[in-house]
Amino acid sequence: MSPQEIPSNNPAAVIVLAAGAGTRMKSRTPKILHTIGGISMVGHALAAAKGLHPAKLAVVVRHERELVAAHIAELDGTADIVDQDEVPGTGRAVQQALEALDAQAPVEGTVVVTYGDVPLLTSELLTELVATHNADSNAVTVLTAVLDDAAGYGRILRDASDGTVLGIREHKDATEEERQIREINSGIYAFDAAVLRTALQSVTTDNNQGEMYLTDVLSLARNDGGRVAAVSTTDRWQVEGANDRVQLAALGTEHNRRIVEGWMRAGVSIIDPATTWIDSTVVLDEDVTILPGTQLHGTTTVARDAVVGPDSTLTNVQIAEGAEVTRTHGSGAIIGAGAHVGPFTYLRPGTVLGADGKIGAFYETKNVTIGRGSKLSHLGYAGDAEIGEDTNIGCGNITANFDGVNKHRTVIGSGVRTGSNTVFVAPVTVGDGAFTGAGAIVRKDVPAGALSLTVAPQRNAEGWTTANRPGSIPAQAAESAAENASN
Ligand code: UD1
Ligand code: MG
Repeated sequence: MSPQEIPSNNPAAVIVLAAGAGTRMKSRTPKILHTIGGISMVGHALAAAKGLHPAKLAVVVRHERELVAAHIAELDGTADIVDQDEVPGTGRAVQQALEALDAQAPVEGTVVVTYGDVPLLTSELLTELVATHNADSNAVTVLTAVLDDAAGYGRILRDASDGTVLGIREHKDATEEERQIREINSGIYAFDAAVLRTALQSVTTDNNQGEMYLTDVLSLARNDGGRVAAVSTTDRWQVEGANDRVQLAALGTEHNRRIVEGWMRAGVSIIDPATTWIDSTVVLDEDVTILPGTQLHGTTTVARDAVVGPDSTLTNVQIAEGAEVTRTHGSGAIIGAGAHVGPFTYLRPGTVLGADGKIGAFYETKNVTIGRGSKLSHLGYAGDAEIGEDTNIGCGNITANFDGVNKHRTVIGSGVRTGSNTVFVAPVTVGDGAFTGAGAIVRKDVPAGALSLTVAPQRNAEGWTTANRPGSIPAQAAESAAENASN
């Protein structure tokens, strides 16, 4: 076949159903806005749908319409948001979506229907569904799975002799015998647009739930002479929906297991997959090592040979080659190649640590650019500051950046050495190669190469302990010291 003759499997439309109330979540947040792996459930649904490259993408909404519609528009400004009216049921939802799309241009060819609350469904499985549907010229192809416990699901009715799909029976409408069937309807289908349009005209609310069932389309299509078939998956997670928070957590765990396994197969060492959580949006290089208890969120990226963890939570953090980030809570930070962070470090947005630099134990940083090879090793706060290269910031240094109303900048040059407990009262500038003494309070600019001291005379009150704390442990220690000295 020449490339022109290969039939394109891109569907004419994907319709994502998302009008349901999701009452079992018991949440003020609409169900499909709850997240798994850092992405909302409807976000996962849209990503899977977009993998099919459909000509049109529609999402049917009703419950919490404004919140849901705004979220969808943010995810994909080109998706058509269709409002479902008060007639309930999946059939009505699809009918209204098809009507809305037809109003733009009549839909011809394959229409795929998926749900907004089935977050592990992949584009690959949808592609397989559409490919089978098209190759066999089916009127309807339903995605099914065989479950140990099929309770609650619609059951696939098949011809006893040849196994062809006859239709779907909803659990609530099923006989005891039909309820023994373990092959379930996932609710995900490929339809021929014309068949779907015609059949929906005959779907009524005449059933146990008083809803327009989309499932009725299968038997209607079959009665009209159309070919109805199923694609059955052995991966039950891909068809599982989240109705409550227990299912949400189970799906979240499985999603994470898949992500973590994917990274291990791509060359990342993950010591403890069970305590490592990685969002779908995170990117890791080969030969990265992730230690136990680590959570990587958002746009976090980790380059080759870097080691992250244990017990670190990083959101939107970029870590360059060979860096080590240990027991750190960070967001919006950039860590240079070969740099060290932690343990017990709090990186806030705007932290930029240069190559081979260090932000050590019990440091908090925010809006600070630290040059190559500079070290802030222990105990302190650096905010709204700029630090040059190969500078050593002593223990307990603080940038006093906030005057109670406004924030001010501290600029520290290269090759600077600051004494323990230096306070930089911003705005202030320290020149290259300057020193500060222990306990310096730097209120005025320090020229390059100068030593800045804040000298308060030291006074020793001899005999103070014995006079003021008689009989105490310090007094006893002082007295035996005096005895030892006199002996
Ligand atoms: C539906 C199927 C059932 C299948 C099951 C798989 C029908 C009649 N039944 O049942 O065969 O086994 O899904 O999970 O289709 N929705 C709307 N508008 C509505 C009703 C639902 O958009 O009026 C959306 C919901 O938001 C949800 C999806 O459709 O995403 C399924 O709705 P739900 O009420 O969960 O259907 P089930 O009764 O579980
Ligand atoms: Mg359901």
